[in-house]
Amino acid sequence: MPKVIIVSNRLPVKVSKDESGYQLSPSEGGLATGLGSIYKKDDNLWIGWPGLEVDNEDEQKQVSQQLQEISLCPVFLTQDEINRFYEGFSNEVLWPVFHYYASTYAHYHRANWEAYKRVNQKFCDMVLANAEPGDTIWVHDYQLLLLPDLIRKAMPDVAVGFFLHIPFPSHEMFRLIPWRKELLEGIIGADLIGFHTFDDVRHFLSAVTRILPVHASANILTCGERSIVIESFPMGIDDKKYDQLARSASVREESEHICETFKEQKLILSIDRLDYSKGILQRLQAFELLLETHPELHRKISLYMIVVPSRDQVPQYKELRDHIDRRVGNINARYRNIDWSPIQYFYQSFPIETLSALYSTADVCLVTPMRDGMNLVSKEYVASRVQNDGILILSEMAGASKELIDAIIVNPNNTHEVRDAIVTAINMPVEEQRRRMIQMRYNVSKFNIGHWVKIFMDRLNEAKQYQRSMQ
Ligand code: UDP
Ligand code: G6P
Repeated sequence: MPKVIIVSNRLPVKVSKDESGYQLSPSEGGLATGLGSIYKKDDNLWIGWPGLEVDNEDEQKQVSQQLQEISLCPVFLTQDEINRFYEGFSNEVLWPVFHYYASTYAHYHRANWEAYKRVNQKFCDMVLANAEPGDTIWVHDYQLLLLPDLIRKAMPDVAVGFFLHIPFPSHEMFRLIPWRKELLEGIIGADLIGFHTFDDVRHFLSAVTRILPVHASANILTCGERSIVIESFPMGIDDKKYDQLARSASVREESEHICETFKEQKLILSIDRLDYSKGILQRLQAFELLLETHPELHRKISLYMIVVPSRDQVPQYKELRDHIDRRVGNINARYRNIDWSPIQYFYQSFPIETLSALYSTADVCLVTPMRDGMNLVSKEYVASRVQNDGILILSEMAGASKELIDAIIVNPNNTHEVRDAIVTAINMPVEEQRRRMIQMRYNVSKFNIGHWVKIFMDRLNEAKQYQRSMQ
């Protein structure tokens, strides 16, 4: 029976080692959490990196067996590949450029580019070892931009889809990358190329038609004999999972405990991976401005801020962590008193039950990235609000802002606007909260992860059939 092979740099579980052997735990990040609930069907398979270096062959076999039982297939990366392909090229060239941080954070080293090519080939070899004619291969995200073309050249018959989970930048940004042509050639090896938003589609079409000898008509790209479909597919979440979790006895118990702890205060929640694109420092600045200009709110609000460790070997991430530590320390030192601290700060990841308890308890969820492909945290908050109350403050730079238009939408660079949005949120009458939340819950439920996978897959089948009919 034909199967779907998902390929992404990171598997939905990460492997770690302790005295009793290798342990598996869920990965963080929107790609892993979003697709995590759908890959287990039929004979489907997910190929990716297990998140740590395993250099001994016997141990690699052991980890492979453990993962195989849950339909995962590991690609092991050496320490040098982790340094150059993952940290050096993926996260010090592609991530900053695609999030508009090229001038501050991008470093273009040829050796890292060479490693990027080698590792994309390594992923291709693993796909070829597992794929059969008739299978569908779905490649994900910026770490594997060369993979669609590598697969198509080796197996022209299989359907190849590609989805980018981060923004595609304007041509002016993208063209800065020395290897821009090769990257685009890699992506257009796919039969269907998906982005979160229409703006990403527009930017991609503009870049590809200026850099490569291809022609675009509406959303169809013609490249020699081939036609490639480019479309936006805003990613959804498993809304029912969050709804059910919020109603479960254990989460309700945890919520009650949180309510009891913050009973005199409005709770403002912020959850991100450690990343400069998430606007964490700017958010802290807005919160500090609020404390400075609204002394009547002291003791009446708390910012519950979770920062999940991420890419901590990349220098910019290490620096950001230090800045956040310092800023939180300064704000708390300046405003705290014996029985109140304005910011509860956690640099760690939490189990989904705790996240659910926080989502369902927080009066306000503050999501203010400087750039974000989609941002699933905002959707998870909405899906957890089973009482139809709560307020989402959302950056207009997040893909999700195109769908969650009933949030309070802010420009994250406008500190005063973010400060005012918090004030509006904590004073918002419950009827207005409900009006907004009901609409957002409807959208999150209708365009959920199941819907996203289905429309992508249907469109990919159509695109491939059309290709075949043209041959
Ligand atoms: N998340 C997690 N553990 C945590 C905090 C967050 O797994 O302790 C998840 C969160 O539930 C969400 C994902 O990490 O699904 C973050 O996805 P998002 O799209 O918001 O941002 P990304 O990290 O992909 O840039
Ligand atoms: C974002 C990216 C994913 C990535 C995740 C976590 O969601 O789009 O591709 O897996 O962040 O980052 P990491 O570097 O830990 O895989």
